[in-house]
Amino acid sequence: MPAQDADPFPLAETERGSKTKNSGLRMAHFFKYKSVDDFLPENARLGIDLRFSNDFAVYDRPVSIGHLKVGNRWCIHPMEGCDGNPDGSPGKLTFRRYRRFGAGGAKLIWGEACAVNEEARANPRQIVLNESTRDAFARIVADCRQAHRDANSDDSDLAFGLQLTHSGRYCYRRPVIATHDPLLDPRTKITPDYPLISDDELKRLVDDYVTTAKLACAVGFDFVDVKQCHRYLLNELLGARNRPGPFGGSYENRTRLTRDIIQAIRAAVPDVVLASRMNVFDGIPFHKGENDSGQPDSWTEPLANGWGMSEQDPFTPDLTEPIRWIGDMRTLGVSLVNVTMGNPYAQPHFVRPFEYPPPDGYESPEHPLIGADRHFKATAQIQRAYPDLAVVGTGYSYFQEFLPHVGAGNLLAGRVSFVGIGRASLAQPDLVRQLRDHGRLDRKRVCRTFSYCTALMRTKDHPLGQYPTGCPPFDKEAYGEVWKEVQALSLRNKPV
Ligand SMILES: Cc1cc2nc3c(=O)[nH]c(=O)nc-3n(C[C@H](O)[C@H](O)[C@H](O)COP(=O)(O)O)c2cc1C
Ligand code: SF4
Repeated sequence: MPAQDADPFPLAETERGSKTKNSGLRMAHFFKYKSVDDFLPENARLGIDLRFSNDFAVYDRPVSIGHLKVGNRWCIHPMEGCDGNPDGSPGKLTFRRYRRFGAGGAKLIWGEACAVNEEARANPRQIVLNESTRDAFARIVADCRQAHRDANSDDSDLAFGLQLTHSGRYCYRRPVIATHDPLLDPRTKITPDYPLISDDELKRLVDDYVTTAKLACAVGFDFVDVKQCHRYLLNELLGARNRPGPFGGSYENRTRLTRDIIQAIRAAVPDVVLASRMNVFDGIPFHKGENDSGQPDSWTEPLANGWGMSEQDPFTPDLTEPIRWIGDMRTLGVSLVNVTMGNPYAQPHFVRPFEYPPPDGYESPEHPLIGADRHFKATAQIQRAYPDLAVVGTGYSYFQEFLPHVGAGNLLAGRVSFVGIGRASLAQPDLVRQLRDHGRLDRKRVCRTFSYCTALMRTKDHPLGQYPTGCPPFDKEAYGEVWKEVQALSLRNKPV
């Protein structure tokens, strides 16, 4: 947790333009932009290629994905609230979140990480879809669609999907590892003799994915995402060059389990639209170094494993295999891909460029615009390789009130099909309606990437083993008290 005296964004001062307070220990803030024009010199200064446009009509162009019609180019990214019930059913805050997303106006809502079995959960409040929780999931789909109809009149062009996950190394009960990763193992308390998940256990997981996918369709979700990102299990397998046997080593072996899962889902529920949120670049872990700035862990070449990067250079995305794999997945029936990168526990600056680091993180070692540009360039490469594939991009929340402009710039340049919104959707779930009705976002509720939501996510000292997460600064009604409680906890636990 950020210490209270270093808090740059006290709850009482949430309006844009209010003075930030800090202890003087913080490095300079990066975000100093007052207009789109202020960004333009950054392209030359930082060696990046950001595009902007004021032509917001581009968002209204509908897209077809399989049999789905999607009415605009906005996607709400999967955003876990860690607010499910112990049995895995969605809790009160989960329902609230999807009612708000539904009302918000985005036509592609990518439901959050949902574990395919109890052991696969990343935290004890992660949602799990099974026979005993299915009715609650059916209600959440109905509520989201109803809220969308109430606020936007028509939901026939709304697509609402669910992300199916196995948390692998980050399972909260005990890590389930596909491979020994010399850089991640010490961070996840894995000793060299810790057993890998066996080939048979991996094969058995196919049934869990199929069962969950069938239920997801039965309760009304429009698409299912076979999640391969953020170094959870299927992502770890993609990079498992050093795993022996049929699920490691060669490209064919590393993609085998996901291929089996996709084929099995396709056979069991032929009508479902298949999607995947996928890392296109893993990178290596960073730690807090001098001045609290992120430093890469020391590494030796060739790297034992990793996806979307060469064995010699873990800092530059190499999309050769991700592009090949997306092509293969298309052949298997995947028609929607959400592009992301990095590991939220090991290099949050790759996953979500930020002004203020999460509690287990470090100050951004690069200008966050470079991080956003990395996302945009990688996504553009994928979109260029498959111009008729529906591709969702990431990295937009950092742009605060200029997010619609950079999104429109990328859409018009054909660099992406959907602008995906993560943290900004927690701060302002109705941002699409705001833009439609007022021509701009509500400046008083623009996400400022101060990572309070991640701080809540990382706080486990709760009777249910996990604090719920949301946006305390801009959603005080639900998270104001939660945030105060967590701040009090962090002060109590502060070393004296
Ligand atoms: C609180 C929180 C919960 C998240 N939950 C998920 C999730 O369930 N699945 C997922 O793929 N990504 C998840 N993410 C990552 C976001 O979807 C997104 O990739 C990231 O925040 C970067 O996008 P942004 O810059 O628009 O925030 C989460 C991020 C945050 C901050
Ligand atoms: S969504 Fe998260 S990062 Fe954005 S303002 Fe809210 S707490 Fe901060």
